[in-house]
Amino acid sequence: MNVILFGATGMVGQGVLRECLLAPSVESLVSIGRAVTGQQHPKLREIVHSDFLDFSAIEHQLSGFDACFFCLGVSSAGMTEENYHRITYGFTIAAARVLARLNPNMTFIYVSGAGTDSSEHGRSMWARVKGKTENELLRLPFRAAYMFRPGLIVPLHGVQSKTKLYRVFYTLLGPLLPMLNARFPKYVTTTEQIGRAMLKVASEGWPKPVLETSDINQV
Ligand SMILES: NC(=O)c1ccc[n+]([C@@H]2O[C@H](COP(=O)([O-])OP(=O)(O)OC[C@H]3O[C@@H](n4cnc5c(N)ncnc54)[C@H](OP(=O)(O)O)[C@@H]3O)[C@@H](O)[C@H]2O)c1
Repeated sequence: MNVILFGATGMVGQGVLRECLLAPSVESLVSIGRAVTGQQHPKLREIVHSDFLDFSAIEHQLSGFDACFFCLGVSSAGMTEENYHRITYGFTIAAARVLARLNPNMTFIYVSGAGTDSSEHGRSMWARVKGKTENELLRLPFRAAYMFRPGLIVPLHGVQSKTKLYRVFYTLLGPLLPMLNARFPKYVTTTEQIGRAMLKVASEGWPKPVLETSDINQV
């Protein structure tokens, strides 16, 4: 499987990157970010790109993929709806439209979040925008598209969030996190479980397009 990964420097993306590099099923992995991860691996090639609303400059490098794992995303805390929409919906759909056109056999997996609002009309701004993003992705002509909606994520294997607030939160919860993951599999998953679930869903599919935390852990 040839994989393209967005957001590899982030908490979810670092976990997905690790599982992809470990997986024998992944032949090659291209990471796209505004900075490199700095990791060296024979399977990994990194593309640095600055305009996530326009991929025309690197379009020639965006074909030949079986799966896209889209882990780029931001917390809505302190953001205007306009800016949050630009990154969450704008960046994701700009990338997805190009990838769907160039890779009609692609499986696209998007990291959304627990509580995403598929109606697009609820009271929570972030949930509406994520819902609109998911709905648009599900309309694009991919071979298949899956929406991962994790709740609380335990970072494993040295993975760190880019978001300071989350880093403080994870440091404070520290030793409790593995216990929470074991006790509450409906609400808590790990970066490793997300990465491994993405690989399995990309190669074998899943009966429904939206995977909540319990589905991710079940995969
Ligand atoms: N963490 C959680 O507990 C959790 C739970 C549920 C859902 N999620 C969802 O999972 C996704 C990833 O979250 P995360 O925790 O991995 O976030 P994170 O640690 O903050 O990482 C965010 C990733 O997105 C990239 N990114 C952010 N803004 C960008 C921009 N303007 N231009 C280009 N790249 C940008 C970052 O790149 P740089 O390294 O260049 O900043 C990084 O690779 C998000 O959609 C989030 O809503 C997270």
